[in-house]
Amino acid sequence: MTATGSAAEADASGRDRMDALRRRLGGFAFGGDYNPEQWDSAVWREDVDLMRRAGVNLVTVGVFAWAALEPEPGVFTFEWMDEVLDLLHSAGISVDLATPTMAPPAWLSQNFPETLPMMADGETFGFGNRLHYDPSSPVYRERAAIITRALAERYSGHPALAMWHISNEYGPTAYNEQSSVAFRAWLQRRYGSLEALNDAWYTRFWSQTYTDWAQVDVPAVPRSWMNPARQLDFKRFVSDALLECFVAERDIVREYRDDIPVVTNFMRFYRNADYWKWAREEDAVALDIYPDPGDEDSWVSAALNFDLMRSLKGEPWVLMEQAASAVSQWKVNNVKRPGMMRAGSYQAIAHGSDTVLYFQWRASRGGHERFHSAMLPHSGTASRTWGEVEALGNELPLIKDALGSSAPADVAVLFDWDAWWALTETHGLPRNDFDYPGLVTDHYRPLLEAHHAVDFVSFDSDLSRYRMLVIPNAYLVPDRFVEALTRYVEGGGVVVCSFFSGVVDETNQVRQPAYPGGLRTLIGGYIDEYLPARAGETFEVQFTGAADDGAAGAVTANWWQDSVHVESATVRAVYASGLLQGRPAMLENTVGEGRVVYLGTRLEPAALTRVLLGEAQRSGIRALVTDAPPTVEATLREADGVSFLFLLNHSESHAAEVRLPFEGHDLLTGASVTDAVTLGPLGVAVVRAVTP
Ligand code: GAL
Repeated sequence: MTATGSAAEADASGRDRMDALRRRLGGFAFGGDYNPEQWDSAVWREDVDLMRRAGVNLVTVGVFAWAALEPEPGVFTFEWMDEVLDLLHSAGISVDLATPTMAPPAWLSQNFPETLPMMADGETFGFGNRLHYDPSSPVYRERAAIITRALAERYSGHPALAMWHISNEYGPTAYNEQSSVAFRAWLQRRYGSLEALNDAWYTRFWSQTYTDWAQVDVPAVPRSWMNPARQLDFKRFVSDALLECFVAERDIVREYRDDIPVVTNFMRFYRNADYWKWAREEDAVALDIYPDPGDEDSWVSAALNFDLMRSLKGEPWVLMEQAASAVSQWKVNNVKRPGMMRAGSYQAIAHGSDTVLYFQWRASRGGHERFHSAMLPHSGTASRTWGEVEALGNELPLIKDALGSSAPADVAVLFDWDAWWALTETHGLPRNDFDYPGLVTDHYRPLLEAHHAVDFVSFDSDLSRYRMLVIPNAYLVPDRFVEALTRYVEGGGVVVCSFFSGVVDETNQVRQPAYPGGLRTLIGGYIDEYLPARAGETFEVQFTGAADDGAAGAVTANWWQDSVHVESATVRAVYASGLLQGRPAMLENTVGEGRVVYLGTRLEPAALTRVLLGEAQRSGIRALVTDAPPTVEATLREADGVSFLFLLNHSESHAAEVRLPFEGHDLLTGASVTDAVTLGPLGVAVVRAVTP
């Protein structure tokens, strides 16, 4: 990623801190959230004995312990935490100590009701759940700082402390008066003057011109049909307000100790925080992931999220939470069938994680998550889940040489929060049912299933290291990205870009001359109309190339059509039916040394696959393995010149044979492998290449 000077420095020391953690643990981190405040001290001893048995070396303590640590304002009860940390340390288990600021205690909500977030509909989100704070509340921030400082003062020097876990799953969006005050200040910093704000927000429309900053407030509903630039800025503000809370706590713990990683946990496809921006402030990216075990396809979106997490910093990352088996928040909570938890854990490692951590160690007896699975279930060690957890914990040391390694990729896919927010959060588009994560997944899946290594990039990433860039439906593109993309293509890069991209600028205003504004020269054509399909409407698309160019013949498309007029491009496919019959559906434009392939419609999945894989092949990009079924995943990690090939069979019922690109040893079985390996259902192999 292109980083500012300070972000680059932060990355360097983040790497150092993570290296220190890796050295300290001597292998992959294994463990999870540990909530001893729910149990009496006799149970703690049993916990620690069983943790040792399962190979646990890192636990996250105190995520929800604010009430137990500060039962009254300014009154701290650290004795129990002292005992827990000492006990863990005596067993050689390191601690990822959390600041407990995600779940403020009842006294805070009672004494300072203004800390509770007002929801968009004007109702207060009251005490009794979690995340009941307005990130812009000065009182909340002050109280969060007090408990954070108290913890840092007491435990920074504790020998068990290996990592800080700041708060948990940052998320609330608040519409309080104090949120408006903070939003105004944020806008003043961004725009400088009310005039610039009025311009950026296009406020002459519907007489929305502001004449006094005090008139500017947060966009709560029911004022629907809102100014789309205001909505977009509010999304950016919410992410920044939450990030300020993280940074404030991070800086406090850093004052006391600078040599251990400080992180917080991200979520899968999370809309309220721009994780590219957040990652710059973290020592490592950490993720909580809960793929639905009832959905046999859920490994695909897990893979995407894992690749995204690795890409955010271009570094090994932290799998902070996963379930040992079922979760408890959905209508039906299926268990992970035998082998699934193991395969999912190796899947995270395969995509760059250096940890396997769970929520949580011991199953709670009460509370909302009493049926959420745990490493140690209600039935204790006499359970299938425990057996699988214990086995995995004792197996992970076999692959410890892959720790800290990276995973190179030649293909990148754009995933940017600004693009996401503009497309799905601001309404008033030709169609308002875009699903950005879904569209990105549609473009990612063919590459994954064909065993290509894939990175994700943002508008600010360094594109130069990739041979091919896929841009799914980037409705908003900032000027800086248009410039970077132009340089990339002129220099020989290959771009595959899909419809309704490049339409608006950073202020959500339509680029002129339209369409697709910023990308017009690159795609080599212009679009005079966007035509969403009627319900159920499909169009026949005829590729114009030779039968052997990988994308010939007739296919169907649906959902959307750009009415494209060719300028400098070549037509690769035309509509063979419907309103746009005979008109271009797909273009290819040569720009400098590179080329841009533009899709003006949503091709059926098999046709999109052919286009993407065809372009990858033309660009000289090689898959990691060939001849493996699509439900087998292949990834590579490399450390000190040694390659580790991870192979995962996600089929629950079929074995799979995979031809190997090199000879090696399967670290999990110890066997030498030459031509091929056979993976049983949900089977895993980690092949360490034999170096000549
Ligand atoms: C996460 C959260 C944990 C736990 C887990 C299981 O989102 O951080 O505290 O709630 O989900 O549902």
